[in-house]
Amino acid sequence: MVNFGNLLQYLALQSPHSGDTTTDSNNTTLNLAKMGLTAYTLPALPYSYDALEPHISAQIMELHHSKHHQAYVTNLNKALESHVAAVASDDVAGQIALQQVIKFNGGGHINHSLFWKNLAPAGSNEANLDRASSLVAEIEKTWGSLDAFKKAFSTALLGLQGSGWGWLVKEAGNGAGLRIVTTKDQDPVVGGDVPIFGVDMWEHAYYLQYLNGKAAYVKNIWNVINWQTAQERFSGKSDEKTEL
Ligand SMILES: [Fe+2]
Repeated sequence: MVNFGNLLQYLALQSPHSGDTTTDSNNTTLNLAKMGLTAYTLPALPYSYDALEPHISAQIMELHHSKHHQAYVTNLNKALESHVAAVASDDVAGQIALQQVIKFNGGGHINHSLFWKNLAPAGSNEANLDRASSLVAEIEKTWGSLDAFKKAFSTALLGLQGSGWGWLVKEAGNGAGLRIVTTKDQDPVVGGDVPIFGVDMWEHAYYLQYLNGKAAYVKNIWNVINWQTAQERFSGKSDEKTEL
């Protein structure tokens, strides 16, 4: 399983992102290993590409996972390799330039890894609200009802300008209350807040199927939320918990 701990700490210290770049991943994994670093890898989906139909098409899922997410992983590894070289050569300007690339692609890797796991086929046991009893109770305590929460979350998603993500998080600290947050571009949730689930609002997540019907994508996403994963993240019982 991917360990995001150090990467998240790094990203929390960085300045706002810059654009994506396409790079060749040849030999990057080997070079990182020689440097004593672990190359990040594309995690397998916990379901087939067509498993979320009709709500998210197989075509979207395949492209989103095998192309978009893979590009974040490839570019992250390449940037980390270059960053190590920049440190070794005392190239401070080079290090600064790479921070933005690492933030963008590292965030993309973290966000998508979380996203795949907080989705599940409609009608599956994992997508059943019964799997999230204490989380739903906390949601109802915070927003008054599950429907009120869904409305607030959907409003936050549709209010995003440009590309970004919407998250339900459990706040860091003793209060540990629930909160809806949005992050721009590929910024991940940082600062100790625990992502319970996130929704990708980049056009690549819905456009091939929904075109400009972003509201329909947001409406349908509720059918494929993995409430079991959400409950595990909320209660601290997820295997991911110690790694985020
Ligand atoms: Fe995405």
